[in-house]
Amino acid sequence: MKQESHVKREGFSSSIGVIAAVLGSAVGLGNIWKFPYVTGANGGAAFILVYLLCLALVGLPVMLSEHLIGRNTKSNAVGAFKKIEPRRPWFLVGGAGVLSAFLIMAFYTCVAGWVYAYIFKSASGVLLTNKPQETTQVFNSLVSGVGEPLFWQVVVLLLTGAIIMAGVTKGIERVTKVLMPLLFILLIVIDVRSLSLPGAAAGLSFLFKPDFSKITVSAVLAALGLAFFKLSVGMGAMITYGSYVDKSENLPKMAVKVALSDTLVSLMAGIAIFPAVFAFGFKPDAGPKLLFIIIPTVFNSMPLGRIFMVLFFILTAIAATGAMLSLLEVPIAYLTEQYQWSRRNATLLTILGIGLIGSTATLSNSILSKVLIFGKTFFDFYDFATSNVLLPLGGIFIALFVGWQWGYANVKREMTNEGQLANEGLFQVYRVLVRYLVPIAVAIVLLAGLNVIHF
Ligand code: PFF
Repeated sequence: MKQESHVKREGFSSSIGVIAAVLGSAVGLGNIWKFPYVTGANGGAAFILVYLLCLALVGLPVMLSEHLIGRNTKSNAVGAFKKIEPRRPWFLVGGAGVLSAFLIMAFYTCVAGWVYAYIFKSASGVLLTNKPQETTQVFNSLVSGVGEPLFWQVVVLLLTGAIIMAGVTKGIERVTKVLMPLLFILLIVIDVRSLSLPGAAAGLSFLFKPDFSKITVSAVLAALGLAFFKLSVGMGAMITYGSYVDKSENLPKMAVKVALSDTLVSLMAGIAIFPAVFAFGFKPDAGPKLLFIIIPTVFNSMPLGRIFMVLFFILTAIAATGAMLSLLEVPIAYLTEQYQWSRRNATLLTILGIGLIGSTATLSNSILSKVLIFGKTFFDFYDFATSNVLLPLGGIFIALFVGWQWGYANVKREMTNEGQLANEGLFQVYRVLVRYLVPIAVAIVLLAGLNVIHF
């Protein structure tokens, strides 16, 4: 086999392992928590269509670009740009990615903490009710506390840190390979139950019958941001993971597989949630708490609901953990490779930093709720600044880098595995996307969504 001898660098061990890890990064709270609530807040089906368009035309080419850069350089997000173009400051794109990883982790660990807490709450039975007020009450009392949500956030950080420190690939590859299919099966079970609730049809039409009057400029920016966040692109996580991928992998094929499976999981989460939203008289635009107040009602109305609910939150916690590993790996690969830190020290410093910033996100539902940055709480600010600003910006520069800086022949060589893959046509389409469509379209949506330009 074309096995290279990487002296120090670990790599994924098999094609299945690569898919599991990359999909493990993509699938996470983004599918189960964020996709439903952002879709709910932006009017449903029409938003989903815009989202799918962003995913195919922007998210996918950026993901492929990152994999190409990573695999070619076998470097972390900063080092990769330095290797290809040492004389120009492209490495700043990787630097911004490291920053994004911190900011995403700040609110991601907060929500993951809620999920961990919900494993125990569902086991205890307090969530088994079909009264919206009661599930809302349980959620509010969790997030508006101080000690409890902080405790869970720390648990999340320590656990994720421990897995990372142990060396990612063996543990996470093995775990995700088994548990991802399990999450999938459980989602099917919940979907069936949710769909058979009386009044479920309204939820389905919300999900699948587009009403284009709901599409505003800020909804388009939200869809674009969600596409970046979902696929873990625009910040170097996929450069980092790409750097662990073997030369023989078919990268375009892999990116398509990952994007399709990821989308399927999101849609299934939508089908789990929206029929219940309408059946139980909730509003679809409840925001970040949507998952936490709706899902219990579905389980409550199903036999063995308590057991299934515990299982559901365990699997969600695992999906979130897989995604967090890739987020953590960005600063850790950077610190260990650029500054020769030990993996242990890099991990400890990183989780400490995330813990400090992350506590402001967690407390923004309680004692820091009055502190606003650009009119947003810390939690909302980190979320908005990353998904809707930093990731799209990163995406623009990554596309520009591959499209205009790296060189036609170099990109082609990497994408065709040194000419072994016959994907010339695909390469030409990809090239047009990264040279023109991605940078121009993302720039327009970004500027319009941020109100810098008006239509
Ligand atoms: N894709 C993850 C999700 O949808 O939950 C979130 C994420 C992971 C974003 C890793 C960025 C990243 F680097």
